[in-house]
Amino acid sequence: MEKRHAAQIKVEFRNQEYFGELDTALSILENIERMKIPIRNSCRRGLCGACRIKLHQGQLDPDRTVEEEEHVYACASYLLEDDVHVFVYG
Ligand code: FES
Repeated sequence: MEKRHAAQIKVEFRNQEYFGELDTALSILENIERMKIPIRNSCRRGLCGACRIKLHQGQLDPDRTVEEEEHVYACASYLLEDDVHVFVYG
């Protein structure tokens, strides 16, 4: 039986790279917190913009995403695809 590869998430934060396993049931913010990265956040409801990140690669769930110009609000956005690459402002 073919082994399925788990979806990966890569985060660049303060000039360091972090890798983790993506859980598409969790928001991007929750995935990043699971990786023990201290990403800024406040309202956790897609309102304040504190958790803004820039997505370089990967597909957002269009029904569960809050975007502003070129940024994504990580607390209110979810990913669909494997091989995700996220850049976080830090
Ligand atoms: S924490 Fe406020 S928009 Fe994400």
